[in-house]
Amino acid sequence: MASFFIRTYGCQMNERDSEALACLLEARGHTPAASEETADILLFNTCSVRDQAERKVVGKVGLLKRLKQKRPDLVLGIIGCMAQNHGRALLDELPHVDLVVGTDCLPQIPDLVEECLNGTHGLVATDTSAELPVGLGGHRAGQRSAFVSVMRGCNQFCSYCIVPYTRGREKSRPVAEIVAEIERLAASGTREVCLLGQNITAYGIAETRREGTRDPEKSPFADLLRAVHDIPGLERIRFTSPHVKFMNDAFIEAITSLPKVCKSFHVPLQSGSDRILDMMRRGYTAAEYLDRIQRIRERLDDVAFSTDIIVGFPTETPEDFAATRDVMATVGYDMAYIFRYSVRTGTKAADTLADEVPEEVKMERNQLLLDDLDRRVAVANRRYVGRAVEVLVEGPSKRNAERWTGRSDTNKVVLFPPAPGLAPGDLVTVRIERTTSHSLFGEIVPS
Ligand code: SAH
Ligand code: SF4
Ligand code: F3S
Repeated sequence: MASFFIRTYGCQMNERDSEALACLLEARGHTPAASEETADILLFNTCSVRDQAERKVVGKVGLLKRLKQKRPDLVLGIIGCMAQNHGRALLDELPHVDLVVGTDCLPQIPDLVEECLNGTHGLVATDTSAELPVGLGGHRAGQRSAFVSVMRGCNQFCSYCIVPYTRGREKSRPVAEIVAEIERLAASGTREVCLLGQNITAYGIAETRREGTRDPEKSPFADLLRAVHDIPGLERIRFTSPHVKFMNDAFIEAITSLPKVCKSFHVPLQSGSDRILDMMRRGYTAAEYLDRIQRIRERLDDVAFSTDIIVGFPTETPEDFAATRDVMATVGYDMAYIFRYSVRTGTKAADTLADEVPEEVKMERNQLLLDDLDRRVAVANRRYVGRAVEVLVEGPSKRNAERWTGRSDTNKVVLFPPAPGLAPGDLVTVRIERTTSHSLFGEIVPS
């Protein structure tokens, strides 16, 4: 038996895959290593979404050549999106790596690792199976908040994006299987789940298309939310990421009416310019995006939105960028991830458009959006002063152990002095006294 360490890059889906993989390895008798340096099996679960993400891994694994020379028994693997994206080419670049395993082959990793422990070197597995990987339901024990994958893959092929190539076609898990997984979690103390899918609003749609029962007025994801909502013991449901194209009225009705669904929604915008949105192949206009946001907002007293933005997409002019700033100001996001456009070989944009916006311009636009956001959130957070918010308790704050931390329904970090007997996973009411652009501070209201 060997010890393993998994280093995870990229999105929540990768985090979830790493967790499920750890459970598979433990089921074979392997044990988590205390550190990267002491592990017998060292796996890098990687991300291809931007060049920077890939370069980080190549740099890091490159540095491990020495360690591998000193400890030839060490099993070194690259798994996940970069493995799917580059396959065998990674072995040419990093010949000391023992195995390269793509996203759909995750369930095979324990077998492949064991072959490497027995001396095999240079294994590559990147088949994309039509079947959903099975046996991936394991979770770390004792989590108050857990990730649950409800689907894999993406069929959207936004022109800039590598994900459809690294994660393959959309495949949704059956409702009953997801519900059973969350029931097990809830029974062992999990209070919150975050349902995961690259385009979660397309949950079940590829399947209904295949069966010929697709109805654009319906939302299989809304039906899933209702089923998950009925699970006893579960208090909160989050999900990521929805796609505006699929946010029909049935979906909006479910997310605004089910009390356990947290009123904090991550709705990627990418750009506020219709010309750029079209070139990105997003399938919506800025007006359609704003219409969906408005529809949600008018049904709820308090709701927080967050988003993803790409600056410096090929041909983005100052006017296009100004349109993005405008839409961001109109929505009034509580949080946003801003990315500088990065060419991804194999995508439509990489094949047809030059990466013409200079890096300095991308950086400048990035900074402007971050500054806008910071200013706006600092002001917007003041709406909470004097209000009582429900908080799911996480535990002592890392910076100051005299304060405990948790999250509001709208996903704000809330800090407060702990009450006697308080435990992670409790739901408490906190009256907010002051706020910053990052956090809310207050006192627990005795119940
Ligand atoms: N499925 C999600 C996003 C997944 S990737 C969605 O459709 O919104 C996460 C984010 O990375 C994207 O929302 C996008 O903003 C960013 N991203 C993807 N490809 C990129 C690229 N080539 N360059 C820069 N940012 C990119
Ligand atoms: Fe990428 Fe678009 Fe799919 Fe999101 S919806 S993962 S941005 S292709
Ligand atoms: Fe990256 Fe793969 Fe997620 S490319 S963003 S880890 S799906």
